[in-house]
Amino acid sequence: MVEETMRAFFTFLAKNKPLIKTANKVGMELGGSSFVGGETIDETVEQVKKFNEDGIYVTIDCLGEFIHDSSDAEEITKQCIEAIHAINEHELKGQVSLKLFSVGLELGEETVLKNMKRILEEAKQFDVFVTINMEEYKNCGKIIDVFKKLRAEYDNVGIALQANLYRTETDVEKLNEFSPVIRFVKGAYKESGDVDIDDKDTVDENYKKLVKTHLLNGNYTQVATHDDDIIQYVKNLVKKHDIPNDQFEFQMLQGMRDERQKELAKEGYKMVVYVPYGKDWYTYFMKRLAERPANIGFTLKSMVRR
Ligand code: FDA
Repeated sequence: MVEETMRAFFTFLAKNKPLIKTANKVGMELGGSSFVGGETIDETVEQVKKFNEDGIYVTIDCLGEFIHDSSDAEEITKQCIEAIHAINEHELKGQVSLKLFSVGLELGEETVLKNMKRILEEAKQFDVFVTINMEEYKNCGKIIDVFKKLRAEYDNVGIALQANLYRTETDVEKLNEFSPVIRFVKGAYKESGDVDIDDKDTVDENYKKLVKTHLLNGNYTQVATHDDDIIQYVKNLVKKHDIPNDQFEFQMLQGMRDERQKELAKEGYKMVVYVPYGKDWYTYFMKRLAERPANIGFTLKSMVRR
C-alpha cells in the first residue's frame, strides 16, 4: 500500500510539466547530479573521465523520455551518435546504452531499425559497444525482435533481459544461437497480471540461474546489480568453472554504491557504471524512484553521503 502510494507519487512528479520546466531551469542541483552524468555531452565527458581515473568503465545512457514523432527520435539518435564521437575523441573507456523507445520503437519497426543502424554503423567505426535497455513487458517481444534483426548484421550490439519475468529463461535459450551479449537486470517495471515473479528471493534465484546458463554457454555477460549476494555468487561461479574475467563485467548505476564500484575495479574485475546523459534527466530520475520505491532508501542514503 505504502509502496503503491510512493510509486503513484513519483510517477506524478515524473509527468508534472511545471516541475519538469523548473527542473530544467534549476538544473541538476535538485539532487539529480549524483545520478546523472550531465545534461550536455561536455558535462558528461567530465563525469566519465572521473570514473575512468578510478579504473571504472562507463556506459553512457542517452536519455529520451518524450518521443512524439520522428523528429524527436531523430534528435535522440543524434544524441547517441554525439556520445559515440565523444568516447572516440576523448579516448574514454566507454560504451553506449539506449532505450528503443527513445529512437522510435512506438513509431514503427522501419523507423527504429533505420535509427539503430545509423547508431550501430557509427559505433562500429569507433569500436563502441551499444546495449539496448529492456522496457515494459508489453514491449519485450518487439524489442527482442528488433535486437535479433540488428544482431544478424552487427556484432557490437547487446540487450538487457529482466530476471523478474517468467519468459526470460526461454528468451535466453532462444537467443543463444546469436551468441549474444546479455545484460542481466532484476527488472525495474511493475507489471500487472502473471507475467512477472513477485517474490524477491525467487527473482534473485532466477537471476543467478540465468547468468549461470549464459556464462556456461560461453557468452559474454553483463552482470548489472548492486546486490552483494549475486556479485559473490558470480565470483564463485567463474572461479569454479575457470571462466576468464574477460567474459563478463559487473555494472551498477551512477550514484549507487560508489565505494563498492571502486573495490570491484581494484580487485581486477571490469566494472562499468551506467551514466545517464541528456536533458530528460529529471524524468529519468523520478521514474527510477517510481519504478522501485524500495530503492528510495538507498537513493536518499547515497544523496546524504555525498
Ligand atoms: P536490489 O534493488 O534488489 O538490491 C539488492 C541489494 O543490493 C540490496 O538488498 C542491498 O543489499 C544492495 N544495495 C542496492 N543498492 C544499494 C545502495 N545504494 N547502497 C548499498 N547497498 C545497496 N531495469 C530494467 O528493467 N531495464 C533495463 O534495461 C535496466 N538497465 C539497467 C542497467 C544497469 C547498469 C543497472 C545497474 C540496472 C538496470 N536496470 C534496468 C534496473 C534493475 O532492473 C533494478 O531495478 C536495479 O538495478 C535494482 O536492482 P538490484 O539488482 O541492484 O537489486
